[in-house]
Amino acid sequence: MTLLNFLLVFCSPTLYNENRFMRASFIIGSQWGDEGKGKIIDFLSDKADYVVRFNGGNNAGHTVINKYGKFPLHLIPSGIFSNATACIANGTVLDLEVLADEIALLEKAGIQLKGRLFISPRCHVIMPYHKILESLHEKAKGKNKIGTTGRGISPVYADKVMHDGIRLFDLMDKKQLSEKLAVQLLVKNKIITALSDTENLFPYRKHAGVKNKVMKAIAAKPLDQKEIEKNLLKAFAKIKPFIKEPHPVLMQAIKSNKYILFEGAQAVFLDNDWGTYPFVTSSTILTGGINAGASVPVGGLTDVIGVVKAYTTRVGAGPFPTELFDKDGDTLRNEGGEYGTTTGRPRRCGWFDAELIKFAAELNGFSSIAITKLDVLDTFKTIKICTGYTYKGKAVRYYDGGAEFLSKVKPVYKTLPGWQKSTKGVTSFAKLPANAQKYIKEMERLTGVKASLISTGPEREATISR
Ligand code: IMP
Repeated sequence: MTLLNFLLVFCSPTLYNENRFMRASFIIGSQWGDEGKGKIIDFLSDKADYVVRFNGGNNAGHTVINKYGKFPLHLIPSGIFSNATACIANGTVLDLEVLADEIALLEKAGIQLKGRLFISPRCHVIMPYHKILESLHEKAKGKNKIGTTGRGISPVYADKVMHDGIRLFDLMDKKQLSEKLAVQLLVKNKIITALSDTENLFPYRKHAGVKNKVMKAIAAKPLDQKEIEKNLLKAFAKIKPFIKEPHPVLMQAIKSNKYILFEGAQAVFLDNDWGTYPFVTSSTILTGGINAGASVPVGGLTDVIGVVKAYTTRVGAGPFPTELFDKDGDTLRNEGGEYGTTTGRPRRCGWFDAELIKFAAELNGFSSIAITKLDVLDTFKTIKICTGYTYKGKAVRYYDGGAEFLSKVKPVYKTLPGWQKSTKGVTSFAKLPANAQKYIKEMERLTGVKASLISTGPEREATISR
């Protein structure tokens, strides 16, 4: 390269975009959710200048326990407890009452939010009809239901794609809100009321295993526009002071070399494209989702940290090749406290599936993994790891088929000796029992990614940082 070329490429502001590179980590759940992202985010957020949510809504949830108290958070980034500035970027969908309650809870606990919380006016709003429509769809699907969290997530994202969404922008202009809402209610109320007429609407109900009386029981009355507007605007008033587009805030952060933490919601195998469709959520979970959902270029991310449990869990329906139905599964559930934070549902439990994580790492470009809940395995005499799948006797990969295929693959297991010693609270890799070290090294070898963090208990200090 000549000197002239060098100067042109690297010194010209039109050819070299300094905003491309940033000091930023992306924390992404790598199984089916509930991997303990909250703890990893909390661990890293002390160093973060900005914490950002960019996808999902209050289907996500974790409980943060710290010196201020106990906080169940579903929308506000959990890094809010550090000195970081928090952004709820445009890809996030908002239940305004839930958000207003979270703001009130934090402010009551003395957490200063003014000037530290930026909410994008582009966020779509979950409306009462979204929750009703979701429940009607789930009932209609009968035994094939998805097992959603019931928070209105799929209908709000469907409306976004259908050009029918209502955004925070719309709530700033009452006339505009009324006009848009009137159109939505014209359509939605027809669907809601028509669903009571199950004979006409669900000719396939027998196939889906739906009983008429179930549908009748959930038939809803048409929704009243005035009532919706009143409730919406009441919650909106509490949120309004924080509505400001995070894009310029984040661009300035990148320019000033500040450290940004992107908090992914849900997990890779709930991704709408690459998860176990249709048993997935409705947003993009993957690294690329940050671009559309938070308005920053993703090419410049410093780290992509895939959070994985030392075993696997899932809530809701869908394939789960390593699921356990025996007492080992019960031990994982009981020792791991595997009950949903958002819905309280018992989680399905199974062995660690290296095929899933290997694929998640390929898809997202993991720089490392963070292993959580290692201590939950402390009592096992032997522990299995799924090294891959077979289908009709042949080795297959995750992406070789859809959900139906994945429900039929057979996991290939490698059995490792357990350590039967407590790892609770251990803070150095060298102090882990030899068999626990071997287990982690095998996880790394099979997934092709190094573990940068290992969590040995719920407390922030119970972490091995490598
Ligand atoms: P939705 O996101 O409520 O539409 O639910 C779709 C699927 O994703 C269901 O199987 C849910 O159980 C699952 N899901 C959504 N959010 C989470 C989460 O934060 N953790 C675990 N599973 C989730």
